[in-house]
Amino acid sequence: MSHKIYPESGVELTPFLAKNYDTVLNAASFGLYSGFIKKSIRQMSIKPVDHILDLGCGTGRNAALMATDLSEEGEITGMDLSGDMEKQFNRKFRNDPRMRFIRQRADVPFDLNEQFDKILISFVIHGFPHEVRLKVLENVARHLKPGGEFFILDFAEFKMNEMPAFHRFVFKTIECPYAFDFVERDWKQILSNYSLDDFEESLYMKKYVRLLKAVKKKKKR
Ligand SMILES: C[S@@+](CC[C@H](N)C(=O)[O-])C[C@H]1O[C@@H](n2cnc3c(N)ncnc32)[C@H](O)[C@@H]1O
Repeated sequence: MSHKIYPESGVELTPFLAKNYDTVLNAASFGLYSGFIKKSIRQMSIKPVDHILDLGCGTGRNAALMATDLSEEGEITGMDLSGDMEKQFNRKFRNDPRMRFIRQRADVPFDLNEQFDKILISFVIHGFPHEVRLKVLENVARHLKPGGEFFILDFAEFKMNEMPAFHRFVFKTIECPYAFDFVERDWKQILSNYSLDDFEESLYMKKYVRLLKAVKKKKKR
């Protein structure tokens, strides 16, 4: 991407990083990412008939893991703004009619004319200014079925000044300033403003990463 929409964002990737995203992640994590991501996707308890929206889906790595639990009736819609990601996603799933890619920004209003059983946003939402994250949540609330599940896989909540010095150094070196704001917010409180509650969470990577599940309230009769 030549011009960033949000100048300080670390989730709007350079063309090199977008083309090599999975390889770079595997190498930078010394191969640990693979096991971690399998474990966290398993935690989503995907049902064979689920229709899933993956916001900022990247190469389709998470979608491929989710798809292993789907029957022929299940579907995954991957959304991303990057043309490099679109190519990789479509290449990965070219023979799989359950998978579709939509090139679309997740941070502006959109209407897919469908409500989903599950929506995942993995390592994307921390990379936006806070008011933009709220726009993403409006899209989520509109596109989730009542009783549907929203998953944020991203950094957990923690106080940066309480981190061990080395961890803080690494986090500040590799992450963008938006992430520093993301980790210090109360996400259950924020999500509850969008009719999302019944929270469940799993922590990974020394509790710095969290899969947070929230359920969309069903309307009272
Ligand atoms: C750090 S990568 C994570 C990719 C994937 N979710 C994963 O966990 O492997 C961030 C992704 O978000 C996408 N992205 C960034 N800003 C976006 C936006 N405004 N709308 C949609 N996708 C966006 C990038 O193109 C990239 O694929």
